[in-house]
Amino acid sequence: MSSSSRHILTAPAWPYANGPRHIGHVSGFALPADMFSRYQRMAGNKVLMVSGTDEHGTPIQVQADKEGVTARELADRYSGIIAEDLHSLGMTYDLFTRTTTRNHYAVVQELFTGLYNNGYIFERTTMGAISPSTGRTLPDRYIEGTCPICGYDGARGDQCDNCGNQLDPIDLINPVSRINGEKPKFVETEHFMLDLPAFTDVLGRYLRGKQGDWRPNVLKFALNLLDDMQPRAISRDLDWGIPIPLDGWRDNPAKRLYVWFDAVAGYFTASVEWARRSGDPEAWRAWWQDPDALSYYFMGKDNIVFHAEIWPAMLLGYSGQGDKGGTPGSRGALNIPTEVVSSEFLTMEGRKFSSSRQVVIYVKDFLERYDVDALRYYVAIAGPENQDTDFTWAEFVRRNNDELVAAWGNLVNRSVNLAAKNFGAIPEAGDLTDADRALLERSRAGFGAVGAELGRSRFKNAITEALDVVRDANRYLSDQAPWKLKDDPARVGSILHTTLQVVDDAKSLLTPFLPNTSQKVFEMLGGEGEWSGMPEIQTVSEEGGPDYRILTGDYATKARWESVPIRPGVPLAKPAPLFKKLDASVVDEELARLEQP
Ligand code: MF3
Ligand code: ZN
Repeated sequence: MSSSSRHILTAPAWPYANGPRHIGHVSGFALPADMFSRYQRMAGNKVLMVSGTDEHGTPIQVQADKEGVTARELADRYSGIIAEDLHSLGMTYDLFTRTTTRNHYAVVQELFTGLYNNGYIFERTTMGAISPSTGRTLPDRYIEGTCPICGYDGARGDQCDNCGNQLDPIDLINPVSRINGEKPKFVETEHFMLDLPAFTDVLGRYLRGKQGDWRPNVLKFALNLLDDMQPRAISRDLDWGIPIPLDGWRDNPAKRLYVWFDAVAGYFTASVEWARRSGDPEAWRAWWQDPDALSYYFMGKDNIVFHAEIWPAMLLGYSGQGDKGGTPGSRGALNIPTEVVSSEFLTMEGRKFSSSRQVVIYVKDFLERYDVDALRYYVAIAGPENQDTDFTWAEFVRRNNDELVAAWGNLVNRSVNLAAKNFGAIPEAGDLTDADRALLERSRAGFGAVGAELGRSRFKNAITEALDVVRDANRYLSDQAPWKLKDDPARVGSILHTTLQVVDDAKSLLTPFLPNTSQKVFEMLGGEGEWSGMPEIQTVSEEGGPDYRILTGDYATKARWESVPIRPGVPLAKPAPLFKKLDASVVDEELARLEQP
């Protein structure tokens, strides 16, 4: 462990348990968070990565109605399916849990109580929408109309995707129900409000301090929100959710906490659950209360408001740090996010992902046909890191073949093969030439360069740097042409030793992105055991509660973020190819599976 070891919370957004995950989802919240965590662990930091399925609220209820099951049945089904999706992607969660656990209910209610006691939650009578034909409450996001702020036509009752402002359905111009097109009726209803204006100053200071650290689009969006801070309802007229922990409300079956209030709190509740499962119930404190601890939240851009405004406000209010002061709740003051790392949107062949219209490729289907590292590579090098980005099958095939196979696969294959054929083992290095030393120096320096990019979640730059090392090594091998030096075996040995050292370095540099193939290279060069950890699925329960499945794992593995000298004499065999070259016909096959535009 390096002496500068820090506690780092990695917080990937909680997927709704309303369907399997597709690659658009996981390119935003999931894979970048795993790349970041794997790097931080290799660099010697103490990472806690927690998340789970988001199982309350209208997104779940609406899908359950569609499938003709209860919300709980739906959540049970998809929580398991999503855990499998994330498991197969190699997502190294310390805990991936659910929002329907007893622990989550209890700790969310503690947060509510702390905020309430400090005066940051108050009651208000508001106008709520109901469907005149059914008499049922109409969820905000199922009302559509014209945005009163920017005039955009397709604004939803909760939010305008055009200008990003939070909305109240009653303010929409010409509101209609997205369910049946009727005009909603507005009636009086009591709600609990989070007093966001009481955090305008403290959030402003916080966000302005992030200039230069956060991705510019994310910070700009978050700063814009400060211009219009309004109290925000954190309860809903719904029976599916967490009860409000106040006398007179606790037993009211028709009033629940707003799903986003409970979901963002999940990062904290899951840390508490993880600590209990780890055998030290207080262990969460090192990530939430140590002033030197860092926290990074990963998500798609439609989640920014909840992570850069509402969640920090909840944490500050609970800690007694808004305009109204107060005292920290029973757990003590809690840290606010170091960085909200939001990605932009991924589209699919020029269109929005849509499960209902079959413009989609699910994780499970993808991984039945292609290798997980090929997907991880694509997301790192061509994901929606800083701008909306289109996934095309042609680009996937091209990058797989021309980059992954032709550069990295080829380097491993050529160098291990040559060494196996000529020496049957890793050769000794003899006297090194300037060219040898330059290449070795180049790959050692890669740890600083790639690490600096990864530490700032600049995945594209990071993997590009790592592949540059690989390309330099390919060029070196071609220039040195050991196959022409049959009568100078010592020199051939030095060249191949140098190349294999760089192969070994590159497999470390690529581990955060390509953990499965790095494991293979580790073994090719004589490594034994687990190089970089993988998650496992476990079935667990809480006292008196039902069984459920979590993802967890022991990630204290061998992988280190440094160059380690290879060992001459380690036997080598002819390697199996690291990656599969994809046939051009893949593109047409996959396009035929999509709904035609
Ligand atoms: N379920 C939400 C979505 O898919 C994300 C919730 S993130 C959380 O957009 F932090 F609130 F849990
Ligand atoms: Zn708008």
